[in-house]
Amino acid sequence: MRLPGQAVAVEKRVDRAQRQAFERLAEIELAAHRQELLLDRLAGVDARRGGPFPGEEGDGRGDDAGRDDPTLHAREGTLLPMRVLVTGGAGFIGSQFVRRLVESGDQVAVLDKLTYAGNRANLEGVDHEFHQGDIADADAVARAAEGVEAIVNFAAETHVDRSIMGPAEFILTDVLGTQVLLDYARQHGIRHLQVSTDEVYGDIPLDAEPCTEDAPIRASSPYSASKAGGDLQVLAYVRTYGVDALVTRGANTYGARQYPEKFLPLFITNAFEGQHLPVYGDGKQRREWLHVADHCAGIELALRRGEAGNVYNVGGQERENMDVVRRILDLTGASPDLVRHVADRPGHDRRYSVDSSKLSGLGWQPKHSFDSGGLEETVDWYREHRDWWEPIKSGDYKRYYDEQYAARLA
Ligand code: NAD
Ligand code: TYD
Repeated sequence: MRLPGQAVAVEKRVDRAQRQAFERLAEIELAAHRQELLLDRLAGVDARRGGPFPGEEGDGRGDDAGRDDPTLHAREGTLLPMRVLVTGGAGFIGSQFVRRLVESGDQVAVLDKLTYAGNRANLEGVDHEFHQGDIADADAVARAAEGVEAIVNFAAETHVDRSIMGPAEFILTDVLGTQVLLDYARQHGIRHLQVSTDEVYGDIPLDAEPCTEDAPIRASSPYSASKAGGDLQVLAYVRTYGVDALVTRGANTYGARQYPEKFLPLFITNAFEGQHLPVYGDGKQRREWLHVADHCAGIELALRRGEAGNVYNVGGQERENMDVVRRILDLTGASPDLVRHVADRPGHDRRYSVDSSKLSGLGWQPKHSFDSGGLEETVDWYREHRDWWEPIKSGDYKRYYDEQYAARLA
């Protein structure tokens, strides 16, 4: 039977309304299902609190995998797998973080400009979606961030000595780029975690207590000042626009795949090559050394359990530079004659030290010791991966190296 025109139109409207209602219902059911799963997981964790976790005695697995890993608890207990945008994910710490999230079942999109420090090889064998682009480019950010529930921002210009040669790029990426990412988080109501550094507190006297998160910002170098600018934008976006954002401030990080301009990989690879080890000034500066896996665990924990508007320090083990140099000589077997005290870095910070008890309160505990295994394992990695660093130490790197060290070592 043919319905009159008006009745057909009404029927179409009813169909459409019904379809929309079904779609809405499906969304609500899915949300409820996720909620239930989440509650189950939380209940499971609560029920098992004090009982065995994977890797603990009595879990039936018989090894110590996952034993002291607080984020394992967090991953099981507080959030379902997410889709995350990791910016700067082709760099040293970012690539390790991508690997970590993928292993725990999260979906990861990476946005990386592939500057001299970015390296696709760092993500070899890791299942991720890769976008080459600049965090300061809003269109590139929008393409890479589609559908994500959180952004973790590692992208930055990161080397103090390069910032002394030319600060502009640092401000563009570390401040402006951060602001572009924050705008995206604001528009889409998603979480932004800013990976920052203990260097924003500036240096502190030898007898001073470690900096807590409310210590004043006293950045000394163009690098740390640009990171501080990014941090302040994050906190301003939380206060002004209510963006769900937070900051971690990590100590000097060490481990595999660090670009060989930084102290440890530079000295380790120079030692293997029989080249000079250029110690700035008296070498009595002090840094806290944090294993990259421990740093990533801290960032993940803050991402999943941290509170918006908060800063979380991620500290390491404090050592004097010359002690570290002596350990590198021991571990590589290089001659002490390679050590050269050279002209100091302008504005060189003497000592960093942070108090990580706020993050420990969320359950963070570092698993790696710098002296017992951490540094040794790192030296071994560079010994066994010459194919990773030898190609880097040519071309543009050589030009940078000569500019930075030739006069100092002459
Ligand atoms: P890295 O220099 O190894 O990597 C930086 C990455 O960011 C590279 O892949 C690079 O290509 C990318 N990048 C740079 N500018 C970009 C831009 N405009 N858009 C998109 N991508 C861009 O750095 P890292 O040592 O892995 O440090 C990562 C983060 O952790 C940085 O924000 C740094 O400030 C912070 N941090 C580092 C340490 C440390 O000791 N390395 C300690 C504390 C905090
Ligand atoms: P670096 O890795 O540049 O990190 P930071 O951002 O903490 O300065 O340097 C770590 C320490 O090592 C710092 O005190 C400077 C010192 N250093 C040298 O003595 N010689 C070098 O060639 C470099 C790169 C660093």
